[in-house]
Amino acid sequence: MVRMAFFGIGGYRIDDLAKYSTFEEVAYLILYGKLPNKKELDDFKALLASYRDLPSEVYSIVTTLGKVKAHPMLALEAGVAALGAFDDNPSDYSKEANLRRAIKLTSALPIMIAAHYRASRGLDLVQPRRDLSHAANFLYMMFGKEPDETSTKAIDLYLVLHIDHEVPASTFATLVAISTWTDLYSAIAAGIAALKGPLHGGANEAAMKQYLEIGKPENARPYVEKLLAEGKRLMGVGHRVYKAYDPRLGYTRNSLGS
Ligand SMILES: CC(C)(COP(=O)(O)OP(=O)(O)OC[C@H]1O[C@@H](n2cnc3c(N)ncnc32)[C@H](O)[C@@H]1OP(=O)(O)O)[C@@H](O)C(=O)NCCC(=O)NCCS
Repeated sequence: MVRMAFFGIGGYRIDDLAKYSTFEEVAYLILYGKLPNKKELDDFKALLASYRDLPSEVYSIVTTLGKVKAHPMLALEAGVAALGAFDDNPSDYSKEANLRRAIKLTSALPIMIAAHYRASRGLDLVQPRRDLSHAANFLYMMFGKEPDETSTKAIDLYLVLHIDHEVPASTFATLVAISTWTDLYSAIAAGIAALKGPLHGGANEAAMKQYLEIGKPENARPYVEKLLAEGKRLMGVGHRVYKAYDPRLGYTRNSLGS
């Protein structure tokens, strides 16, 4: 009997990665196909941090959209596409160049989120810090003070758990776009556009609205019964890919199917 193993992310179970690894380590695993040693991790962290200064024009687009209260995902679509205009060598489609762009985008996204968040509330931008981890710098730029360890760990864990979702709509949209040989920034903007929809990533926001409407536990059953009777959807429930099992957990089975 041959036993076969199927592993979630680069050969590791997502729950192990969540327990033992940081966002930077798992990002490295996704990008390079292996977990980093100490030196590789230090170099990777330094590289990520070196991309924290966005062009002022990109800041300006994202903050303008914040000031007019545009949806944050719209600001990300625009910001990511705009970042493509500042690529040092846009005609270089090599793997190395795209890897560099992927790292640049990884750095840029939380910075854009923080810039949009603050502008939408009339707050000044907080300049990024290179000495903080990816998660800590995000919180620092959002709230203007160095975050505590628990909050940093929570965001780090959140990022690890969201780093890979196989091929849902947003990844599919990105793959379709990149298969036309468009640039990586445009393809990621296409993915963000698909993620924004309430049946996909936007379900987080839609679910929160429904939780707030429900208000307290005793309202939950009548709320859901009414919703279903009206043929509406309960947001945050259901998934197009994970119908029965989250494959990122990894599993083993034998070839005879027992
Ligand atoms: C994600 C989603 C689009 C998947 O849709 P799907 O692939 O058509 O789902 P299924 O095939 O499992 O649906 C089976 C049935 O359950 C219904 N259903 C699925 N999710 C539902 C939900 N959240 N609320 C109410 N009914 C739901 C479907 O309408 C379908 O009913 P039907 O057979 O009468 O047409 C759907 O579950 C949904 O809209 N969920 C709410 C949005 C959300 O949370 N998305 C997060 C995705 S990460």
